[in-house]
Order: sequence, then structure tokens, then C-alpha cells
Amino acid sequence: MKVMVIGGGGREHAIIKLLKKSPKISKLYALPGNGGISQDAVCVNIGAKDIKGICDFALKNHIDYAVVAPDDPLVLGAVDALEEIGVACFGPNKKAAEIEGSKVFAKNLMKKYNIPTADYQVFTSPKEAIEYLKSAPLPTVIKADGLALGKGVIIAYTLEEALSAVQSIMEDRMFGESGSRIVIEEFLTGPEVSVLAFTDGKTLVPMVSSMDHKRALDGDKGPNTGGMGTVAPNPYYNAKVAEECMNTIFMPTVEAMRAEGRTFKGCLYFGLMLTEKGPKVIEYNCRFGDPETQVVLPLLESDLFEIMQSVTEERLCKEEVRFSNGAACCVILASKGYPAKYESGFEIVIPKPEKSVDYFVAGAKIDQGCLLSSGGRVLGVTAVADTLEGAINRAYKAVDSVEFSNGYCRRDIGKRALMA
Ligand code: AMP
Ligand code: GLY
Repeated sequence: MKVMVIGGGGREHAIIKLLKKSPKISKLYALPGNGGISQDAVCVNIGAKDIKGICDFALKNHIDYAVVAPDDPLVLGAVDALEEIGVACFGPNKKAAEIEGSKVFAKNLMKKYNIPTADYQVFTSPKEAIEYLKSAPLPTVIKADGLALGKGVIIAYTLEEALSAVQSIMEDRMFGESGSRIVIEEFLTGPEVSVLAFTDGKTLVPMVSSMDHKRALDGDKGPNTGGMGTVAPNPYYNAKVAEECMNTIFMPTVEAMRAEGRTFKGCLYFGLMLTEKGPKVIEYNCRFGDPETQVVLPLLESDLFEIMQSVTEERLCKEEVRFSNGAACCVILASKGYPAKYESGFEIVIPKPEKSVDYFVAGAKIDQGCLLSSGGRVLGVTAVADTLEGAINRAYKAVDSVEFSNGYCRRDIGKRALMA
């Protein structure tokens, strides 16, 4: 079968490396892919948000199946458009993708169906938001309604910070139209867990849990980033918590979406906080997480393409989804300066792959045969081992063998997990 993957980051590279192993796939394309992905799939220079371009390419090249990985095309309706022209897809349609596309929608859904989450209020007027904040408990959490490149959440520790967040989101529109509505919610505390799950709208199969490290610097210091590293499984997510999440969060969400006429098919991402009052939803994503995918998929032992097809064809209940009992650690190499200003165009030399180590390229291009950095997050280095400690050691050993003069990484990915 001819398969195309929409997107061009480390997550897509991880998906493509697994799809490549599937005997059913004869040709694999990435739109647009990147310099690293071009070693594993044919990259085509069509942007992930160019839905017309994607559909034209699919028709012209007789694509049988599409995996739509990033949030933007999903929220824009890429799956609807592809299905319309007869291309089977992995990913939710536009109506279902709203679970990530609109925080207001997600919060109202949870409220209606009693799915545990932080208490919240919705505001469309900055004046009313400011009035409310004057007597709201601190810290408080302010979220732009729509997609904001993962940056639409501001935790305000003082009234001043809260007011300035409202100003920049609603008045200055720092995230554009995404800031026409905001959610102000209760600040929760507790360990965070990411759980990705396959669902065909009826059955839900959680993948191995994981832990992201969002801050740029060691000790969870520095600014928020797209994610500087991950480990899986997350030690806080034990069997009891998993069962509680299944009963109070995962299945109720799948059923709520179906009841709303928004059956969700694809990968549903649960960002959870394990509070003293039990697990609560911090956020939903309508897709594989990045860099969670880079630790979760290397632990998958079953055929990813078989699972994806069973989701599309709504027969996930009959599919075997098996994960290894081992652990994985992914360390992100980013360009110095990221997430603020950084320079590009530095050469990256990746050593020959060895067993249990994978290199997932996020932001690099090929220029005259060399791999050159072209983004903030450049490379994810994942290692798998029997234990978390082993995976961490192996990942850092592999990171240290990469040549990238303008790169930096955190040195403490997984440290907190080891202490849990
Ligand atoms: P983002 O990935 O930009 O959506 O960042 C969300 C991050 O903000 C989460 O990973 C949490 O660490 C934090 N966060 C979001 N909502 C809350 C909340 N209600 N209470 C405490 N922290 C939150
Ligand atoms: N790692 C969080 C995300 O993919 O949004």
C-alpha cells in the first residue's frame, strides 16, 4: 500500500520509522518531512496545513492511506477532505479534533460528562476576565481557547501577571484569533502523566504512559518549551491509577465524544495531573504527543500500521496491541538559545545506529549531503533498555556521540522519574 504521513518533526520521524517495518507498506511518503525523515521516506515539499496540496498529491499518486499527525491539519479538517476523495486516514475528523482545537469545548465537555478536571470559567470579554481575576485565588491558570503552538497556557502567580496575561492574549492577540475567548482555571498540583491512547470511537487502548520535561533547563528551570525530553513508562502511573483513569476519564471521554456526534478515531492524548483528589485532565490533544511519541512507539511490539488500520476500520477491539516491559528515554538536542532566538545551519553528525538507540530528527534539512540544523528542537535521541536507569544512561551515551556544535540538552531527563 502507498502511505503518506503528514507532518515533519521528531514525532513524525518516529511514526515513519515504525511504519517502515510494516510488510503491508510498499511506498512511504512524508509531507513535508525533514532532512532526517528523507532517509526513511520520500519527502514531498507540501506543507502540513496545505490541505488542497495534500489532497491533490494523494489523488495524483494513488495514496491508499494517510496518517495526519500534527494538530493544525487535523483541526483544519484534513481528515474530512482526504476521506471525501476516498483516502482512508488515521486521525480524527474536524469535529472530533475540536477536543484540542478549542479549550472551551474540551472544558464544557468534561463538565457535562463529569470528567474530572480543574474548575474553570470562560470569558469572551477582557473586562469581565479582569473583574473576575481581582478576587480569584492565586496562582491561577489562563488559557487561550484555540491552538497556540503549545504556548497558550500562562500560569500567573500574582494578580499583575494574570492581568498582563489577559492583556496579551485577549487585547494584543499574541496568539491571534485563539485569544478571542479564554479559560481561567484552578491551579492544580501533583505529578503529571501523559497517556496516549488508540481509539476507534468505541474501544480505547492506552499506550505506555510517559513523562514530559517541558522546561528548557535542568531542575525544571528556564522557559517552557515544546518538550526537552521524555521517559516511559511514567512511574507515578501505577496499575491502580491506570484503572481509575480508564473508568473516570478515558472511557467517559470516548463515550462523551460519541454522544456528541463527534466520534473520535485516532490517537487521543490525555495530559493528566495526579492530584490528591485523584487524576484530573489538564489537557486533551487530538494526536500523538511530541516528544512522547519518541519514547512510546519504540516500546510498541505490534505492527503500528495494523493497529492504525484497525482504528480506521473500527475493529480495534480485535487487534492485539502489545508493548514491551522495558523502558525508554528520549533526550532532545535543541539549538542554543531555543525556545527564544537561535541560529540555524549547523552541521549534525549522527553516529551509525546501534541496537536499542534511535535518532529522530525534528528540525534539520539536507544540504549538499550534510544534515544541517533548521529548527529549535533539532534531534531526539531515544534509547530503550530493560530498566529506566539503563535507558537514561544509554540515551546520554548516544547523545554524547552526536556532533552538533550549536546544540544543548538537559542533563537530567528521567531524574525525577527515578526518584518517584
Ligand atoms: P501546554 O503544553 O502549553 O498546554 O502546557 C500546559 C502545562 O501547563 C501543563 O503541562 C501543566 O504543567 C501546566 N498546567 C496547565 N493547566 C494547569 C492547571 N490547571 N494547574 C496547574 N498547571 C497547569
Ligand atoms: N508534548 C505535548 C504535546 O505534544 O503537545
